[in-house]
Amino acid sequence: KKVPTGFPETFLWGGATAANQIEGAYQEGGKGLSTSDFAAYKDPYTSGKVDNFTFNVSSKELAEYQSNEGAYQFPKRWGIDFYHRYPEDIALLAEMGFKTFRLSISWARIYPTGLENQPNEEGLAFYDKVFDECAKYGIEPLVTMSHYEMPITLTEKYNGWLSRELVKLFEKYARTILTRYQDKVKYWITFNEMNMNLNSLYTGAGVLTDLLPPGKMLEATYQASHHQFLASALAVKAAKEIIPEVKIGCMINQIESYAKTTKPEDQLQSLKSNQLNMFYPDVQARGEYPSYMTRYFADNQIELAIFPEDAGILMAGKVDYVAISYYMSHVTEAREDASKLAGSFDSPIKNEHLALTQWDWPIDPIGLRISLIKLYDRYGLPLFVCENGLGAKDQLTSDNQVHDDYRIDYMREHISQMREAIKDGVELMGYTSWGCIDLISCGTSQMSKRYGFIYVDQDDSGQGTLTRYRKDSFHWYQQVIKSNGTQL
Ligand code: BG6
Repeated sequence: KKVPTGFPETFLWGGATAANQIEGAYQEGGKGLSTSDFAAYKDPYTSGKVDNFTFNVSSKELAEYQSNEGAYQFPKRWGIDFYHRYPEDIALLAEMGFKTFRLSISWARIYPTGLENQPNEEGLAFYDKVFDECAKYGIEPLVTMSHYEMPITLTEKYNGWLSRELVKLFEKYARTILTRYQDKVKYWITFNEMNMNLNSLYTGAGVLTDLLPPGKMLEATYQASHHQFLASALAVKAAKEIIPEVKIGCMINQIESYAKTTKPEDQLQSLKSNQLNMFYPDVQARGEYPSYMTRYFADNQIELAIFPEDAGILMAGKVDYVAISYYMSHVTEAREDASKLAGSFDSPIKNEHLALTQWDWPIDPIGLRISLIKLYDRYGLPLFVCENGLGAKDQLTSDNQVHDDYRIDYMREHISQMREAIKDGVELMGYTSWGCIDLISCGTSQMSKRYGFIYVDQDDSGQGTLTRYRKDSFHWYQQVIKSNGTQL
């Protein structure tokens, strides 16, 4: 066997988005309201320090947003108007040579409250048109079933994924979209970044945490996650029944935890912090709970409602590949709050070797290579980097250019490290950089935190022409794809 020379011919180059961050049209086409429609814009700098995760909503905030809507701005309701502009946007992605386009389906477009027996035909027809547009250019859609949103009714009625009721409601939704798009979509992901439940239980699981009994936060995190594991496994099983050639994966936000020092206590903590994140793909790729969690649950007084049939469901729903988003690495040490910090964007310990983005995210391309090697060693399954990129403030010049050489540098270094990982023996299916077209930030609901190759003329309060402009990185990425990653 020879060392691979670089990216395989079949490599899926592309970009990634999520419905709630691009579509807008939040009340068109019969769509119900989603949890993400209640992510109000708050100035992320009020404390003097960037607050990266404002997308957490309490029951009081939700009630206030519902009774006093006009007093707030909800940028995820307007997105970048992809709902109406998708033909132009997909044409631009095709011009870059995209082989794949990651997008998500909004559950509330298909089942407006999640409770209906019949799906909303207008919602289904919208995604048909989007997939047909992709097919025109030979772009394979990579579809996330659940990306940080769900019908708000399910939060109101059940407190989100805390309830086991959601498992069957999600299975109904998953079967509907798998059946409808069986001839159009081969690549699927069940849940976006499930390990981020450790960080924000409203974002991915629709749980209003202030309603939990005192001291029950961690237990609720794992109970909601358990229900999502079941739902994911049932969706995988359904996918295999409905689409024989399907490739369906799980996904985590991969934040490699380095130990602060060579002290064995710090090394042990780094191992344990990594386990807390790996727990998610461990269950989804191996089909059972890893033994290390038994002690963790006991030590933290966590008692989960797990039914006898659950083991069989998990084992029958193992994924085909493991997808990751990768933005940063993290530093940990032996301290009391260390395990609480696993999966968190904000490590109190800085890595002096790494530069930070404008939002204080450490930039660590080698961490991507380390992550890929470790994940491949652990699962032996193909991997997919389905998010990675640089959020930055871009400047549109008077002649409508964006000179984003900083973004090109960031991506060049990360793509180089992916190539090294392939040479190290990792099987990598593809790369979809995050926010290939500028979109609303998940964490801060800002428009000004831009990730795209395509600039969208809109500001944080939703003002602008929405005209799309090609940035310098657009032309650079076009070359990367054309040369299959040899010209970086
Ligand atoms: C990932 C999410 O965590 O990070 C995306 O899957 C998100 O939805 C991305 O947009 C970048 O985060 P942010 O907060 O900069 O938008």
